[in-house]
Amino acid sequence: MSAIPFDQMDGQIWFNGEFVRWQDAKIHVLTHGLHYASCVFEGERAYGGEVFKLREHTERLIESGRLLGFTVPYSADEIDTATRELLVRQGLTDAYVRPVAWRGSEMMGVSAQSNRINVAIAIWQWPSYFAPEQKMKGIRLDLAEYRRPDPRTAPSKSKAAGLYMICTISKHAAEAKGYADALMLDWRGQVAEATGANVFFVKDGAIHTPKPDCFLDGITRRTVIDLARRRGVEVIERAILPEELSGFRECFLTGTAAEVTPVSEIADWRFTPSELSRRLIDDYAAEVTPKRAAAE
Ligand SMILES: Cc1ncc(COP(=O)(O)O)c(C=O)c1O
Repeated sequence: MSAIPFDQMDGQIWFNGEFVRWQDAKIHVLTHGLHYASCVFEGERAYGGEVFKLREHTERLIESGRLLGFTVPYSADEIDTATRELLVRQGLTDAYVRPVAWRGSEMMGVSAQSNRINVAIAIWQWPSYFAPEQKMKGIRLDLAEYRRPDPRTAPSKSKAAGLYMICTISKHAAEAKGYADALMLDWRGQVAEATGANVFFVKDGAIHTPKPDCFLDGITRRTVIDLARRRGVEVIERAILPEELSGFRECFLTGTAAEVTPVSEIADWRFTPSELSRRLIDDYAAEVTPKRAAAE
């Protein structure tokens, strides 16, 4: 846990077009986004002073809002410019970036057609480097009780705050049992994703990963698929059933926060982080390093 609560840190937050003092970036308790989860967000990471795939994240934020029926009132250019300026103002190079957009307080019923759409961006320190040896031990996952919903039940392509309720319940339950995280199945009983990351498996030198048809198609997921294919590794996107897990040798998670994180256990299944996980950890680290910094 962070030593200082997040609402008491110092610095600035970009809030509806202005840079405000960190501790002044407040909202009222009667906020639609808080009561009804009419809120979308992003999780981004800066490496060496540059936000990795910033435009893709910004576009996903805008699209997430659209899927919830609202228009983010800033262009992608404006959001990207604000993000870059905030990173400089915060004096950070390796950092976590959290843009968020939500319906405000003008109406408090389920219907909130005229509510203002608020947007904020916060950036805090996040060191970029975990020793690969540490990562190669792999993390332990439990199997979550809840499942990712049918896309006919929820806007599953949206990074919507409401969809994270299931993630927090599942992660807390896993942590209570001593696990680092939980693997969630989808509404059909197929393997879906972890609570904040996508999942990959390795068998006979090929990578298998579920099709993102009812969960987030992670920007890291797409990057890692690309990196693997560039190495000539076959990547198969398909439905994966839990009973297949015993046939996979390696397993790893991908995500902005997780980067590439090997998994050693999922409930009773065991995996051995090996060569391919190692190579992708290194390839991903090279990919996120700004080319300017890499050349120095
Ligand atoms: C539920 C969930 N799935 C997948 C991901 C991976 O997405 P990305 O690689 O775009 O960070 C995340 C991380 O944001 C997530 O929260």
